[in-house]
Amino acid sequence: MSQAFSAAEIEAFRQQTEGTQHVVHLNNAGAALPPDRVRDRVLKYLREEALYGAYELSARHAPDLQQTYQHTARFLNAEREEIALVENATIAWNLAFSSLPLQKGDVVLTTKTEYGSNFINYLKAKEEKGIEIELIPTDAEGSVDLAALEAQLRPAVRLLAITHIPTNSGLVQPAEAIGDIAERHGLWYLLDSCQSIGQLPMDVKKLKCSILTATGRKYLRGPRGTGFLYVQKKRLDQLSPPYLDQHSANWLDTDAYEIHPGAQRFENWESNKALRLGLSESIAYAMEVGMDRSWQRIQLLAQYTRTQLAEVPGIQVLDLGKQKCGIVSFRYQDHDPVRVQQYLLERGINTSVSDRPFTLIDMDQRGMRSVNRASVHYYNTEAEIDRLAEALTGLRKERS
Ligand SMILES: Cc1ncc(COP(=O)(O)O)c(C=O)c1O
Repeated sequence: MSQAFSAAEIEAFRQQTEGTQHVVHLNNAGAALPPDRVRDRVLKYLREEALYGAYELSARHAPDLQQTYQHTARFLNAEREEIALVENATIAWNLAFSSLPLQKGDVVLTTKTEYGSNFINYLKAKEEKGIEIELIPTDAEGSVDLAALEAQLRPAVRLLAITHIPTNSGLVQPAEAIGDIAERHGLWYLLDSCQSIGQLPMDVKKLKCSILTATGRKYLRGPRGTGFLYVQKKRLDQLSPPYLDQHSANWLDTDAYEIHPGAQRFENWESNKALRLGLSESIAYAMEVGMDRSWQRIQLLAQYTRTQLAEVPGIQVLDLGKQKCGIVSFRYQDHDPVRVQQYLLERGINTSVSDRPFTLIDMDQRGMRSVNRASVHYYNTEAEIDRLAEALTGLRKERS
C-alpha cells in the first residue's frame, strides 16, 4: 500500500485550495473545490480573451490546448486520439450510447444502481429500437454479482453498461473484473466513470472498457462544464456519431465527406477554451498529488465519516458494497433530508441529497425516497467530519 499523506501534505493541499478556508465542503460528489491554480488558469485565460480576441488567443495557446488531450490520455493510460473533450458526462455518455450499433432484440445488461439519465436512455432505446434491458443480480453486499453476470451471457447480449460508482450508495462496482468478462466475450463495455474519475486510479487498459465517460467538476476538481469521452481505438470505426460538423468530419466534395478517424468525431468545433485549460490543470494537479495516495486517503476518511455518523443517535449509514468509496449516504430518523442539508448549510457545511429518480431501482428496492450524502475528498480533514457529526447531534437536540 502506498504511503499515507502526512498532516503537512494535507495542510498544503488546503492552502492550495482557497475554498477550504471558507466552507466544510462535503459535496465533492456534486462538485469538488478546485485547486486555486485551476481557478486562476481559467480566469487568466478569460481575461486575455477579452483583451486580445478569442480566436487569436486560442491560436497562440494551441500547444496548451493540445496538452489537455495529452494529460487526459496519460491520466487514463489511453492514446490521444481516443479522447474527445465535451461539456459534461451526460453529453459524453449520450454521444457514445446513441452511436452504438444496437438493434431490435439486442440485450443491454446494466446495474440496479444505474444513474437515472442513463436508464432513461435505455428505456428510450427499448421504445425506439426494440432493445431489451436486463438487470445484473447483486451479491449480498449490493455489488454486481460476477458469477450471475456470466450466467446471463448469451449471443443476444451486446452491451454491458455499468455505472462504476453510483451517485447514492457509496459502493464501487468491480469494474476491472467486469472488463475481463466483456473482453472474453467480445461485448461492448460502456463505463460511466462520472463519480470514479479523480477518485480512484483509472487505467483503461486494465478496465478493458470500450467506452468511458467522465466529468471534470467532481473528484477531478476541474471546472464545471467540462467532461470527456474515451473510446477504445479498435472500436472507433464502429461508432457513428448522431451528428457531425466540420470539426468531426471533413467535407471532401459536393457529394462526399469523411468522419474524423479519432474520437474527435464526437466533438463540435466550438468549445470553451478557458474551461478546457482548467480541466488540463486539474488533471495535471491530480497526477502530481498521486491517485494511489489520494484514493487511499479518501477511503480512510470516508470510513471515519461512516463511524462518526453511526454514533449519532438516529442516524443510519446506508452504504452498500464490499468496496466503498468517498460517498457516504445516510438517513436521520424523523428528519427530512432536505431540512438536514439546509441545517448543515446554515452552519457552513456543504452536503447534498440524493433523490429517488437519480437511482430509482436501488431506491425503490430499499424503500427510500431520498438520502443525505456527505462525500469526502482527500483535502477534507477528520476535524471537519467531527464538525459534521457535532452539527447533526445538535440538530437532534434542537428538535427534542
Ligand atoms: C453516476 C453519474 N453519472 C452521470 C452523471 C452526470 O454527470 P454530468 O452532470 O457531468 O453530466 C452523474 C452526476 O451526478 C453521476 O453521478
